Amino acid sequence: MSTNSAPVYMDNSATTRPFPEVIEAMTDVYREQFGNPSSLHWMGYEAEKLVSKARRSVASLLGTGEDQVYFTSGGTEANNWAIFGSLRSAGERYKHVVTSAVEHPSILATMEYLEQLGYRVSVAPVDRYGRVNPEEVLSLVAEDTCLVSVMYVQNEIGAVQPCAEIGAGLSEMGPRRPRFHVDAVQGFARLEIDVSKWGIDLISISSHKIHGPKGMGALYIRKGVPMHPLIFGGGQEQGLRSGTENVPAIVGFGVACDIWAQIAHQVRDNLYNLRKRLISGIAGVFPDAVLNGPPLENVAPHIVNFSFPGFRGETLLNALEQRNVFVSTGSACSSRKSKPSPVVLALGKSEAEALSAIRFSMSPFTTAEEVDITVSALEDALKELGPWRRKLT
Ligand SMILES: Cc1ncc(COP(=O)(O)O)c(C=O)c1O
Repeated sequence: MSTNSAPVYMDNSATTRPFPEVIEAMTDVYREQFGNPSSLHWMGYEAEKLVSKARRSVASLLGTGEDQVYFTSGGTEANNWAIFGSLRSAGERYKHVVTSAVEHPSILATMEYLEQLGYRVSVAPVDRYGRVNPEEVLSLVAEDTCLVSVMYVQNEIGAVQPCAEIGAGLSEMGPRRPRFHVDAVQGFARLEIDVSKWGIDLISISSHKIHGPKGMGALYIRKGVPMHPLIFGGGQEQGLRSGTENVPAIVGFGVACDIWAQIAHQVRDNLYNLRKRLISGIAGVFPDAVLNGPPLENVAPHIVNFSFPGFRGETLLNALEQRNVFVSTGSACSSRKSKPSPVVLALGKSEAEALSAIRFSMSPFTTAEEVDITVSALEDALKELGPWRRKLT
């Protein structure tokens, strides 16, 4: 068994290494500028200025006005707020929501809860690449549909959903159309989002997926969209999300956005090249490997997901870990449970294929050398585990 000296982190969809500038800026806030933005003295005023500056950075990367960005504790809260806040503000008449089969658990678990509360949930299926058909999504809209929630980039397989088409179709439904929510946690910063052109009302984003701190995110709420709060209290965030602002994390998020504004295009091109290199490398060392998700088009630059028939994803993950390469078997929230990935199953794959799935996810820090190390570690691991390979049933 060959072991690399430096760890190769290929789990950037789970979380990312904070940019050094993020850590520096946050440390400075913790040390020197720890005021509460609501305080009336100058320390409060300084903290408030920091929050406003960061809000401008986030809004600018998203391509929206700063008064439409509301900080939250992350993508999960933003998703929960988008759903519950929409239903609460729409009123009793609206009892139906539409979503897709491959949403993140922070959407799907919320939808399950809604069903327990008596709401109807329609789930659009996906094709073999993990994409919804926009017409099928639109056909699910009923008289009492409050919300359509479809993610931008699927977090396990990288499929990019046709959000522009869904938004356009919803806009054609006139003023009483359902509102459109997009969970853009994996797509934000990495891919373009044309918020107004795509007719999006609500967008969830998360800081730790783009090299900012954990426990920080935001919900974009289009101007004029009525929204109920989820968290009540001191009236922070224009009265819609109470709680003393997490100033250091907000500042870190803003700095991460500023950096992405400079590097996004270049990073995207590099990552698409690394993605191709990784895919051909894996196909070279294990021709039976099956790519989950779109091969070239409508796919995010940083995610590659393969099934390795005959092997268990978990076993492969451990074998790669022993070789200092860190990957995932599915979304971080579910990867500790030994269950087949519901996302891979939704592509029409078998349970055995879903149990053998591994996700490799890259970042601006990923190098071609690391991709090659990953491929040879995988080759080595597959050779070692080969005698235990099981025939697919
Ligand atoms: C697509 C998607 N949505 C939402 C989330 C949740 O974000 P957070 O970890 O900030 O709560 C994640 C995180 O894995 C994600 O990938």
